[in-house]
Amino acid sequence: MALYSEKVMDHFTNPRNVGKLDDADGIGEVGNARCGDIMKIYIKVKDGIITDVKFNTFGCGSAIASSSMATEMIKGKPISEALTLTNKAVAEALDGLPAHKMHCSVLAEEAIRAAIKDYYDKNGIAYDPAEFPEPDEHE
Ligand code: FES
Repeated sequence: MALYSEKVMDHFTNPRNVGKLDDADGIGEVGNARCGDIMKIYIKVKDGIITDVKFNTFGCGSAIASSSMATEMIKGKPISEALTLTNKAVAEALDGLPAHKMHCSVLAEEAIRAAIKDYYDKNGIAYDPAEFPEPDEHE
């Protein structure tokens, strides 16, 4: 069996939503201290809906595929829905990731949450800090 699914290879070789948004409403940047990979996600928000999203990932192929898939999954969706996106859902949408690459999908979940938190902070929107725990250093 191939190590990576066709979907992973597709999103890695042809990633969606690459780039940055100069007028982003929220920016989330996270990294994994072990592998040194960094992911940055930009969101544009209107009336509680994520109208646009872009990413820049300096990282492995699984991190790039995860960013691509995760941005596709939250584009056009309410913030409340984006906050429920888990790394497992991203990995499942990619038809799975090898076990030692699951942490790459965690970066996507964390970067999205960080971007939403940044949007809340910049706009003085109240939230429960418990909803935004500090990202762990994932193995
Ligand atoms: Fe670090 Fe994939 S190896 S995010």
